[in-house]
Amino acid sequence: MVADGPRGPAQTKRLTLIRPDDWHVHLRDGAILAQVVPDTARRFARAIVMPNLDPPVCRVADALAYRARILAALPAGARFEPLMTLYLTETTQASEVVQAHASGAVRAIKYYPAGATTNAAHAVRDLRRCYPVLAAMERYDLPLLLHGEVTDPSVDVFDREAVFLERHLLPLTQAFPGLRVVLEHITTRASVEFVNAGPSTLAATITAHHLLLDRNALFDGGLRPHHYCLPLLKRADHRAALVAAATSGSPKFFLGTDSAPHPRHAKESSCGCAGIYTAHAALELYAEVFEEAHALDRLEKFASYNGPDFYRLPRNQGHITLVKEPWRVASTISAGGDVLVPLRAGEDVGWRLVE
Ligand code: NCD
Ligand code: ZN
Ligand code: ZN
Repeated sequence: MVADGPRGPAQTKRLTLIRPDDWHVHLRDGAILAQVVPDTARRFARAIVMPNLDPPVCRVADALAYRARILAALPAGARFEPLMTLYLTETTQASEVVQAHASGAVRAIKYYPAGATTNAAHAVRDLRRCYPVLAAMERYDLPLLLHGEVTDPSVDVFDREAVFLERHLLPLTQAFPGLRVVLEHITTRASVEFVNAGPSTLAATITAHHLLLDRNALFDGGLRPHHYCLPLLKRADHRAALVAAATSGSPKFFLGTDSAPHPRHAKESSCGCAGIYTAHAALELYAEVFEEAHALDRLEKFASYNGPDFYRLPRNQGHITLVKEPWRVASTISAGGDVLVPLRAGEDVGWRLVE
């Protein structure tokens, strides 16, 4: 990575790194897909694409068809490889794992606790019912990606990730020591500590918004639906633990935006959807975090090395350059007949992508 400026590293103005990948993104489908995929493809060479469409992507054949729709939506000349995932259900068969492994296009299987988040209604009620599938994943070395929250209504929503660690993740890692597991979009100090203490088969993604915002951002002068995501933003001390983990240089933490577009009317509603759109400025937002932590020299590891190393894929060849130059984010982005409100709408981002 090259980070320099007219007066040396203290005045960094330009940042060049190996092209990064996004290890957790929602590209959706149809008109929204066509609108959002260029934002991701402009920055990232590859992305792990979440399967929570409606209906969800449960079979390898569905994933291959979805992959073709993503490729068809790319701007002419764009080079971007969607890494597909399957949506785990209690009826997923071990044979699907064998097919996924053979496909070369499906790179992981995603666990959602039933009802935990967007389009999770058909997901898993009791993870133990999936143990035969997990055994096949362990055998075929196909990673399991976790939305790590319990849905038990008696557990406070801010505690659902921490409770998941003890109730589900600990027994899971003990039952399948060879299974590679990614705890997605972590939000708490407990998760950082759990992942750090765990085996090398356990890693975590961290979003830009959980690195930038704490839960005060949900109620800043009024209710802020565009800061509502799952798992919820947490207290400032948790955010500090996430920043420390992302900038630590540990191979266990890597970039996953969880960019999750929803039409504005679905966010600004009496029962609004969870999800924050960040793909329009994803790498630039992470650069702000790493600069603030005086760790710009670690961004490449987090964004471009740790993910492929964990997934056992080659690191990318090309480079990407950012300059320290503020630009104004649009207040809305039109997507088909709908409108998205991106993170930082109408405000500045400190780093700009050089095409
Ligand atoms: C995601 C979505 O909208 O699909 N929302 C979110 O708040 N993160 C689902 C998810 O990743 O849990
Ligand atoms: Zn999730
Ligand atoms: Zn997600």
